[in-house]
Amino acid sequence: MPRATLAVALAVVLGACRAAPQGAPDAVAAGEAARGRVLLESRGCGACHTIPGVPRAFGLVGPSLAGLATRAYIGGSVENTPERLVLWIQDPRRLAPRTAMPALGIPEDEARDMAAYLLRGR
Ligand code: HEC
Repeated sequence: MPRATLAVALAVVLGACRAAPQGAPDAVAAGEAARGRVLLESRGCGACHTIPGVPRAFGLVGPSLAGLATRAYIGGSVENTPERLVLWIQDPRRLAPRTAMPALGIPEDEARDMAAYLLRGR
């Protein structure tokens, strides 16, 4: 347990170091969390995921996205950094070929906003 905690803490710290260009307040460069929240609803992520704070997002097909900012891995295998999360949202199978999550045609700017929302607080 302490080892796992340490690993998570390390991943968060390392992720944050890599993520934050100097002076940028957001975890995800150029992403805007408030816009991301709206997009997470309108793009249908909530059909498969439960996402706290996002209206009508009670899906149970995929894992809950609660607390994603504190997790070390995306989809259990991909290191959880802001840039990888942006890629994951656009095309999960590019990072994890066997994942059940499909690519949904999300453009990069929208993926950045969604990632900013999901990683807020990091
Ligand atoms: C058709 C159902 C479906 C839709 C729609 C969907 N996902 Fe997923 N998603 C999944 C599944 C299934 C997984 C688990 C994949 C795995 O573990 O390999 C997943 C995993 C994830 C993860 C990793 C979660 C974790 O606990 O590691 C993130 C982040 C994510 N999805 C974000 C999104 C976003 C953002 C959208 C909307 C653009 C979206 N998903 C739409 C099915 C979906």
